[in-house]
Amino acid sequence: MQVVKEYVQRWYESGLDPDEYVCHNKQGNLVEIEDVATGEHRTVLSFCTNDVLGLVQEEAVKQAAINAILKYGTSNSSTSVLSGRIDLHRQLEDEISAFKHLPYTQLFMNAWMAMQALMDAFCHLAIPVPGFQNTRETLILTDVLNHGCIVSAIVNAGTRSGKVFGHSPRVRVKAYRHCNMEDFARKLRRYALPDDRIMVVSDAVFSMDGDIAPLPEMLDVMQNYPGSVLLMDEAHASGAIGATGSGIYEHFGLVPMQAVERGIVPLIMTTFSKFAASAGAAISSHVEELKPLLNVSPTSIGTISLPPPNTAAALESIRQVRKSPERVQILQENTRYMRSRLAEHDFVALGETNVLPVILPPEINPKVFARKLIQQGMWVSPIWFIAKPRIRITVNALHTKADMDHLVARMVATRDLLCESTISA
Ligand SMILES: Cc1ncc(COP(=O)(O)O)c(C=O)c1O
Repeated sequence: MQVVKEYVQRWYESGLDPDEYVCHNKQGNLVEIEDVATGEHRTVLSFCTNDVLGLVQEEAVKQAAINAILKYGTSNSSTSVLSGRIDLHRQLEDEISAFKHLPYTQLFMNAWMAMQALMDAFCHLAIPVPGFQNTRETLILTDVLNHGCIVSAIVNAGTRSGKVFGHSPRVRVKAYRHCNMEDFARKLRRYALPDDRIMVVSDAVFSMDGDIAPLPEMLDVMQNYPGSVLLMDEAHASGAIGATGSGIYEHFGLVPMQAVERGIVPLIMTTFSKFAASAGAAISSHVEELKPLLNVSPTSIGTISLPPPNTAAALESIRQVRKSPERVQILQENTRYMRSRLAEHDFVALGETNVLPVILPPEINPKVFARKLIQQGMWVSPIWFIAKPRIRITVNALHTKADMDHLVARMVATRDLLCESTISA
């Protein structure tokens, strides 16, 4: 542990550690937080929650979670495949299938487990079955800016989880440049062998850049590879893009079955931690046989099933979104408003969604910027550990125009102040 101690000490000395805040109370976007370093309490307006539709505090959602606890208790106390499956799981899977227009859905505890389960199931199948032998290698193509859950799963895709040695045919992983369809097509041409099973995986909305994967162009390229699989991670797309919040297919005026008609197998991962006021993830497909295989993946059989309150909260949230897509429209209007206000004040915002990364002038440290804002009652996330340091604002459906105007005014004042102090230094 000596190296860890020395490293973390140096980390603190260099000011690279994140500031820590603890929430004591929440009313809409107003959050009472404690600054752990000073013990100070203050109420701030949050622009960093992923509760994009504002359902976390919705009465019907909270009540659904409470009812589930009253009926089933707080945990299912078993894995799904043994004795941990409850009727709410089935209802939630059906609801997601309807929302995503893909008939077969399997639940997981979170995105990381869902991704790993898929790699295990797709690349390595499950237990040996007499008379069946897979001889085909897998080629996985991944956008370089994909989320960590994808990176982790594909890096581990060479061997089935829980095994030290693998006996399946090889799995090869290649990355293509971010949303660059020329590079994507080139990599497929270069690396796809005639008998490969091909899987392409991408964030639908990129979690750090707030942009959207070029789905129509991806389908155009992939239709040259019949049977290839396209997995979209819709963590930030669900409830946020498309007229009713269904996600990336709806955003581009498509449904997943149009990919099927072109010989491509669409898979969608939904997560509940953003739009659905809960935690957990799901993989949906039109292939009936994938579901039982996912059900016996190591990250399904080796861990607890989704607890009753989380399942119920996600189920009620999705029902609310499907019943009243106006929330999605408000979110999209708020996104447009916030982006236009930032542009008016010469802030450089990446992407096009409610995930709103703002690149600050190079002389401004995002951590200092966010600290100054929090002192003025505005909470945004500073990001300084990736290529282009930024602050990350997440707009949600509960923000008012006055909230957003207030944030922009504070950002302008803070930028002026910090730029001035670097000039005079
Ligand atoms: C693209 C993407 N995928 C997956 C995840 C992880 O989702 P969860 O926390 O719901 O497991 C995130 C979370 O930020 C994400 O942005």
